[in-house]
Amino acid sequence: MLESVKHIILILSGKGGVGKSTVSTQLALTLKEKGYKVGLLDIDLCGPSVPYLLQLEGKDVHQADGGWVPVYADEEQNLAVMSIGFLLNNRNNAIVWRGPKKTAMVKQFLTDVCWGKLDYLIIDTPPGTSDEHITAMENLKTVKCDGAILVTTPQQVSIEDVRKEITFCRKTGIPILGLIENMSGFVCPHCSNCTNIFSKGGGESLAELAKVPLLGSLPIDPRVGQLLGKACVKELPDSPAAKVFNSIVEKIAVT
Ligand SMILES: Nc1ncnc2c1ncn2[C@@H]1O[C@H](COP(=O)(O)OP(=O)(O)OP(=O)(O)O)[C@@H](O)[C@H]1O
Ligand SMILES: [Mg+2]
Repeated sequence: MLESVKHIILILSGKGGVGKSTVSTQLALTLKEKGYKVGLLDIDLCGPSVPYLLQLEGKDVHQADGGWVPVYADEEQNLAVMSIGFLLNNRNNAIVWRGPKKTAMVKQFLTDVCWGKLDYLIIDTPPGTSDEHITAMENLKTVKCDGAILVTTPQQVSIEDVRKEITFCRKTGIPILGLIENMSGFVCPHCSNCTNIFSKGGGESLAELAKVPLLGSLPIDPRVGQLLGKACVKELPDSPAAKVFNSIVEKIAVT
């Protein structure tokens, strides 16, 4: 199913709540805006947030002869989305996943979705280096996976967790495309002064230390959290976040 996918990119972070799903959805939307055919696969089985972030909650995945037909975010079908959220009847439902069941589900997501021809498949992952990640790596071995983008926030705890993620990528042989520092300061909408709420430069020094490229620093911008399905690069073209997403896409498009 992944054979006609040109590029596969994983979004990883050792820590929860640092903005992986926000980065995944905005990256997918930016690529779509640039005219690419994009797929977004959410393998966060316990906290699937992609359906909400793209305002696709309640949409159904259909079972066809060839496998699962993903949900399309647009009429032109340039952004295909798959998430466990589409398979649950109620967003408050929780499935208690045991290791083997989790592994089987992630494997099915990677092998049974009819993506069709895609330029990019972005994979949003849960925090950490657990079953989902290991299964994804194992199943992506046979297809060409471009690599991983790591997301961190500037605090030391987040940096420490991302350091572990770097070790994980190196151990499992996944190339690291780069690091994104999210929540990197808050620019006051009134006076334009930047406050570094969580200290500064952690992502930069980690990138230097681990010898991975720093793809960009995303400031805290409440408007970014409210985009829900809309591309930052289109809705807020002059925002610092839009500039970062544009430059990330430029960088990965030449990688
Ligand atoms: N740059 C930003 N500016 C403002 N809000 C942000 C920014 N990045 C993320 N957020 C908000 O922070 C929250 C957490 O983001 P998100 O869900 O993307 O993190 P995550 O790493 O995917 O979390 P999890 O580990 O639970 O999957 C969301 O409410 C999101 O809207
Ligand atoms: Mg998430």
